[in-house]
Amino acid sequence: MLKIAVTKGRIEKEFCKILEKSGYNVEPIINKDRKLIIKTNDNLEYIFVKSSDIITYLDYGVVDVGIIGKDTLIESDKSKYKEVADLKIGKCKFCLASKPDYKNKTFNRKKIIATKYPTLTREFFNGKNEEVDIVKLNGSIEVAPIIQLTDAIVDLVETGTTLKSNGLEIIEEICDVSTRIITNEKAVENKKDELNTFIKKLRIGEE
Ligand code: PRP
Repeated sequence: MLKIAVTKGRIEKEFCKILEKSGYNVEPIINKDRKLIIKTNDNLEYIFVKSSDIITYLDYGVVDVGIIGKDTLIESDKSKYKEVADLKIGKCKFCLASKPDYKNKTFNRKKIIATKYPTLTREFFNGKNEEVDIVKLNGSIEVAPIIQLTDAIVDLVETGTTLKSNGLEIIEEICDVSTRIITNEKAVENKKDELNTFIKKLRIGEE
């Protein structure tokens, strides 16, 4: 039995479509209602959790596989998981964004940046040899430059609707993000065949 921790929400829905196309039994997932653990007759167990907790489950060895966004991985300890495949779903990009006047502004002080992703933000500005102050927020980051908490944000952009609706624009694209399959050393050692069979059967990147 392969135990798969799946990020709840958008990723779960898109991953479910891949599973269905690949011939896996998704009926118990579709009808799970508020149930968080689902076993199927194809010897798989799905555990639906928050993305930030998937690495913890893997690290403790209680799940074998994680379905998780690259955005969460970037902020996590690389020694605790092994990335094995790109599912090519959940595609979006990390961007620096702000109000339109940001581009023409001169700053005589360190810029202040709001983000849910401090590691990525620090690396991005380090790459520009620029020191910034980072304010870590947990969601709806777009409000920060509008109510003058920060000068800009580093956040995920998918359709661009949230930025547009709040009068913000992309200043610079940072990197692409998509959903990945991750695993850990224990699963690779003990369930190698099950893991390979599962990944091989997945029809990734097919419309
Ligand atoms: C994400 C992201 C943006 C938005 C981008 O937020 O942080 O706010 O989606 O999507 P768009 O470009 O299609 O508008 P999410 O919906 O995950 O909620 P959050 O703000 O609470 O993080």
